[in-house]
Amino acid sequence: MSPKPPSGSATRRRKEEAIDAFRDDPGIERGGRHFDRIRLVHRSLPEVDLEEVDTSCEFLGRRLSFPLLISSMTGGSSNRLRRINRNLAEAAQACRVAMGVGSQRVMLEHPEAADSFDLRPLAPDIPLMGNIGAVQLNLGVGVAECRRLVDHLQADALIVHCNALQEAVQPEGQTRFGGAIQRIGELVRGLPVPVVVKEVGAGMSPADASRLLEAGVRIVDVAGAGGTSWSRVEDHRRRAAGIADGLGRAFEDWGIPTPLALELLRPLRGRLTLIASGGVRSGVDMAKAVVLGASLVGLARPFLEPAMESAGHVIEVIERLRREFRLAMWLTGARTIAELCGNDALRLPDPTEARP
Ligand SMILES: Cc1cc2nc3c(=O)[nH]c(=O)nc-3n(C[C@H](O)[C@H](O)[C@H](O)COP(=O)(O)O)c2cc1C
Repeated sequence: MSPKPPSGSATRRRKEEAIDAFRDDPGIERGGRHFDRIRLVHRSLPEVDLEEVDTSCEFLGRRLSFPLLISSMTGGSSNRLRRINRNLAEAAQACRVAMGVGSQRVMLEHPEAADSFDLRPLAPDIPLMGNIGAVQLNLGVGVAECRRLVDHLQADALIVHCNALQEAVQPEGQTRFGGAIQRIGELVRGLPVPVVVKEVGAGMSPADASRLLEAGVRIVDVAGAGGTSWSRVEDHRRRAAGIADGLGRAFEDWGIPTPLALELLRPLRGRLTLIASGGVRSGVDMAKAVVLGASLVGLARPFLEPAMESAGHVIEVIERLRREFRLAMWLTGARTIAELCGNDALRLPDPTEARP
């Protein structure tokens, strides 16, 4: 079954309106600083030269210079959205980091938007991931449509985003989430590439992650609270649609903070590859997320404005993150990502936690 086009060109407009909201309201960035609670053990004598620190890692069979993901953001038929995606892809290739595209639903409904996802020629060597909303799987987007999305992008994986809160606040949102896990399981079995399941800023609970594991999913992005609040973004659109009930503001800080989500998923680490995103704002935050078990760390918002400028502006942000990440690794005495990832010994006990 083909997906039913929404009224007007809502899908096409929505992304543009959201990006305008980011420009006008600094409060969309919640600034939770949840990573400040996590402290790593400082080594006065790292016993390794800074130049010897190897930040490289592998993801989806491709080599990365360090474990960074440019998280899913855009795609669409306007020149602005096309430019954002191209700048991100060029920068990701130049720096050898992973990239996820924004929801590809728009290309199913508006074929003219498809070329904003023609990114493989610009980024031949990096992990590129497609994207679709979980609720869309209940609304006519099936395995065949998802295969088209993957093929078009020549993607290494398809990300399915779970955005129940965002859909509930969105004036035209879809809340038919019943049975979505079953649909995700069908995708896992029907697609030639792995399915990654992510949140969009409210965090993934252990119960949901366990159910996804049962459905065959092997990679989860916790995308927790503390950074971009989609509830707040949609509150602007809700008010513009004449619904001034403050629903989105009431839930703007809802969800599981990213470091806590990683800690809660600790028992599943051996069976699930974890990606951390949501409020990661520095290479130091990235190092903390890796110590908490993340194999890859994603940032979205910090790349938005630079991507509107040029690939060079995006590269500057990536280089800053890499410098900070490398120094944080060195100061914990870690030589390789294997020595850093999930290494509890590198974490300082929280002095506020009760001791036996
Ligand atoms: C402008 C923008 C657009 C986004 N669009 C999508 C999307 O289409 N699909 C998706 O899975 N996540 C989307 N996200 C969510 C991010 O991928 C990420 O999970 C979330 O924003 C948390 O990261 P951050 O705090 O670094 O922004 C978007 C985020 C931003 C900032």
